[in-house]
Amino acid sequence: MSSDLFEQHGIDPERIPRHVAVIMDGNGRWAKKRFMNRVNGHQQGVETVRTIVTAARQIGIDVLTLYAFSTENWSRPASEVKALMVLLKRFLAKEIDTLDRQGVCLNVIGQQSRLPDDVQTQIERSMVQTRGNTGMVLNLALSYGGREEITRAVRAIVNEVSSGGLSVQDITEETVAERLYTAGQPDPDVLIRTSGEMRLSNFMLWQVAYAELFITDTLWPDFSQKEFLDIIRQYQTRERRYGKVPCISNDGSQQ
Ligand code: IPE
Ligand code: IPE
Ligand code: MG
Repeated sequence: MSSDLFEQHGIDPERIPRHVAVIMDGNGRWAKKRFMNRVNGHQQGVETVRTIVTAARQIGIDVLTLYAFSTENWSRPASEVKALMVLLKRFLAKEIDTLDRQGVCLNVIGQQSRLPDDVQTQIERSMVQTRGNTGMVLNLALSYGGREEITRAVRAIVNEVSSGGLSVQDITEETVAERLYTAGQPDPDVLIRTSGEMRLSNFMLWQVAYAELFITDTLWPDFSQKEFLDIIRQYQTRERRYGKVPCISNDGSQQ
């Protein structure tokens, strides 16, 4: 992004969040408002994905996580699930060259084996194509559930303990973090949810412990680069205390 744009949005280039996670919600309501099918909302939502990935890359975010399909979303009508899978495959097929050119490394998190075979093949191809890119990691959360992720980590740890590779006393928070889908990545600094719901819906339960929360009423298909950048600006004004007291300077005043 040019320095002009940083200036235009009041963003300090030195304090860009490393990891931004987004619960992309509201596609169905967007369609309903227009008397359209929910699938039209998902189609429009794909356009927003494109613009937000570009903005995130331009301002130098290291990791962008997009919640696209939850473990619970499998319970939606089969026709909607099918349509979402088709859209996903089409998005990857169409956009992967652009993502690659932008230096984005695609990383799918979640139960990949539950996805249809053709979607899995497309994901594999896309991840291989972009795996050497170092510009930004794009975590696409698909068939993702925070509880499933933690359960899977627990299973891995128990297996290692029972095979003698790990002792119980050595289990730390890092032991768990290293067995999540996001192993090696920083935790989200910012969590955005569109369309106004005040809940996590099983998203990154472990990782968002100290994320700064931003919930906007804007429906995902209407979410713009401008609003995204405005959230980044607001994030830069928040004081992250991590349970400590505010900074006190030598003369006793709060900073
Ligand atoms: C988010 O939009 C996309 C997915 C969960 C796949 P929704 O489909 O949940 O839209 P609303 O919440 O019904 O408006
Ligand atoms: C969360 O949205 C999942 C995704 C955005 C992929 P939902 O629409 O599924 O969440 P609930 O049902 O409102 O909690
Ligand atoms: Mg929803």
